Amino acid sequence: MTSTELRQSFLSFFEQHGHRVVTSSSLVPADDPTLLFTNAGMNQFKDVFLGRDRRDYRRAATSQKCMRVSGKHNDLENVGPSLRHHTFFEMLGNFSFGDYFKEEAIRLAWELLTGVWKLPADRLFATVFAGDEGVPRDDEAYGYWLRVLPAARIAELGKEDNFWSMGDTGPCGRCSEIHYFRGEHLPCAEPVCRGVACSCDRYVEVWNNVFMEFDRQADKRLVPLPAPSIDTGMGLERITAIMQNTLSNYDTDLFQPLLQTISRLAGRQYGGTMGPADVSSRVIADHARAMTFLIADGVLPSNEWRGYVLRK
Ligand code: ALA
Repeated sequence: MTSTELRQSFLSFFEQHGHRVVTSSSLVPADDPTLLFTNAGMNQFKDVFLGRDRRDYRRAATSQKCMRVSGKHNDLENVGPSLRHHTFFEMLGNFSFGDYFKEEAIRLAWELLTGVWKLPADRLFATVFAGDEGVPRDDEAYGYWLRVLPAARIAELGKEDNFWSMGDTGPCGRCSEIHYFRGEHLPCAEPVCRGVACSCDRYVEVWNNVFMEFDRQADKRLVPLPAPSIDTGMGLERITAIMQNTLSNYDTDLFQPLLQTISRLAGRQYGGTMGPADVSSRVIADHARAMTFLIADGVLPSNEWRGYVLRK
């Protein structure tokens, strides 16, 4: 499948399951001084989760333009050396505003990955929240995963991995990630690979399902949301790499035309290695996309705030 077909397939699947397909919001957050750039699909629904805004739908699906270059979610330093990080990327997401919760979210994710996209079930792993800082272990999500996965393929991790917050304040909750196993043949720098918790290329995080339940206050207190809700995010670039069977996001149809042009202009063929010239080519490809989408959303190079990030 091409990346365009995958994006469409994701949106159509959720539309068939009663979700309203909503257009991506701008990379410039509409009315949120806590945020430099849109960094997740849920941003445009923040006030809906908090009960301050209402929509005429309770289920939504989007392909959201995101930038992760500052604050809580910042991947800038990984871009270049990593084969799967970007400053700008597209996040595919499905949302429930007080409608379905954990059971249905896990069921839908599993059906899309294994039923529609036919990913081999034995390569999929899940993670759930182990319990931390007064928030209990996610027994419920664990139980739902046990219906489709053996216990050995369900990892229990702490708040770094399995508690998602948009920022220092605002909607947050326990989450459950789905990882795809690429194989033991890939190198791992650790003495013993830590599996889904490892940063090597053997396991890649594909999809994060957040069970939104709290509004974190400035004094760190967790106040329950008006209704338990669902917020999910799957990187289009990563799922495209998996579906096109490439180790690197940069070898997919999303990046190959850019890298071919960079190779032509540089007079040097991109080789996909960790060598400095290939790292630089990935940085240029990533940043060219980011700059293009930022300018299209009205950001101009300047000496301050958003414009400064673009200029750099
Ligand atoms: N908002 C969640 C994330 O960005 C889905 O991982």
